[in-house]
Amino acid sequence: MSTAANDIDNVIPMPSTDSVRQRPRGYMSGFGNEFATEAVAGALPEGQNSPQRAPFGLYAEQLSGTAFTAPRKENRRSWLYRIRPAAMHGAFSPFAQPRFHNDFGDGPVSPDQLRWDPLPLPLSESGSEGGVDFVDGLYTMAGNGSAAGQHGCGIHLYAANRSMQGRFFYNADGETLIVPQLGRLLIGTELGALEVEPMEVAVIPRGIRFRVELVDGASRGYVCENFGALLRLPDLGPIGSNGLANPRDFSTPHASYEDLEGTFELVAKFQGHLWRADIGHSPLDVVAWHGNFAPYKYDLRRFNTIGSISFDHPDPSIFTVLTSPSDTPGTANIDFVIFPPRWLVAQHTFRPPWFHRNVASEFMGLVHGVYDAKAGGFAPGGASLHNCMTGHGPDAETFEKASHADLSKPHVITDTMAFMFETRAVIRPAAQAFDAAHRQRDYQACWAGLQKHFDPVGRD
Ligand SMILES: [Fe+2]
Repeated sequence: MSTAANDIDNVIPMPSTDSVRQRPRGYMSGFGNEFATEAVAGALPEGQNSPQRAPFGLYAEQLSGTAFTAPRKENRRSWLYRIRPAAMHGAFSPFAQPRFHNDFGDGPVSPDQLRWDPLPLPLSESGSEGGVDFVDGLYTMAGNGSAAGQHGCGIHLYAANRSMQGRFFYNADGETLIVPQLGRLLIGTELGALEVEPMEVAVIPRGIRFRVELVDGASRGYVCENFGALLRLPDLGPIGSNGLANPRDFSTPHASYEDLEGTFELVAKFQGHLWRADIGHSPLDVVAWHGNFAPYKYDLRRFNTIGSISFDHPDPSIFTVLTSPSDTPGTANIDFVIFPPRWLVAQHTFRPPWFHRNVASEFMGLVHGVYDAKAGGFAPGGASLHNCMTGHGPDAETFEKASHADLSKPHVITDTMAFMFETRAVIRPAAQAFDAAHRQRDYQACWAGLQKHFDPVGRD
């Protein structure tokens, strides 16, 4: 992980009005770097973190993302210089959004292969009274572990048609990985603004307050809450020092802030449930910050895909973008894995993903195009779940086609971007997802047409 410091970025003059709205100010590159950025020249104290009086009358506040005494290479924290401290808000009370939770249950869980059509978009028009914003549009699909146990993940979709208005959100339970599938998002955070589009992903660290605005109207995507160790880049082993997701392609926003007073709402996710509090100002009021605990985005199209150039099919770990390690070496709490456009050149090989059963459990989604192991039924915005030791693989049509494909030529897949949240623990579907009308009750039928080809006297 890089630790190179970024120079303090170019600054903009102090605005003269007290009703300033945050605006995106671009990005700094690197993963886990020690960044330093200020929206007003001189707002970052020099030589110390908490002077008796911070510049420009700002409050100094530390945000710790790891234990104080975590090893230096894993230690994450940032110092924020802000208009008002994060402590300033009213008392919290329960917030009703029953579709978003971490109640994965402890009863029997079906070993069935499961698949869903895309989560329907809200029906009401953007901006209408009945609009659905990012928080209201979160829909829990599955998960395991818990925030209290500090391991596992929550897997959700969102379907929204209205920007968050007068509302800010933070997740105290883990970092939030957002995978847009439809529509660009402008994510205003305490540490700056990220604009992300489908084929990009964003990670909002635990606790950081943010607002999601919809740039293109109705929007949909996937969310993974990581209750375990922070996501990081995987080690590369014999691949060497380059490849997969390169650190320089991760983007963290420059500091930008807004100075707004009004009647706002702060929604918190805390220990699996939502809470709300009144807040009289925008919490996106950090004028400058430095540190290595910050939001970032990554363009999946930058992924340097590695694969077989001789024969056979590597394990999908070769496509890992980010990993949350567990206490067991090599056994991730979560891997975020993608299946991007790539060349298939392996000879005398069944080129699509093979039939398999894994000790790990796999939740898949599709951002764009077609997934090469399925001829149909797995649509962009849809999802599938294959749990521990549940057999799965190409459908009958894909098997027949790939078994007779001309392997004398390479094949390039261009129109695709599938992904997987893979975890060491069984992923328990939420009751609402298991019972949902858009779950495909006939998913198993995609393998029913596989023919018996066995012939004890004909080896080929
Ligand atoms: Fe799989």
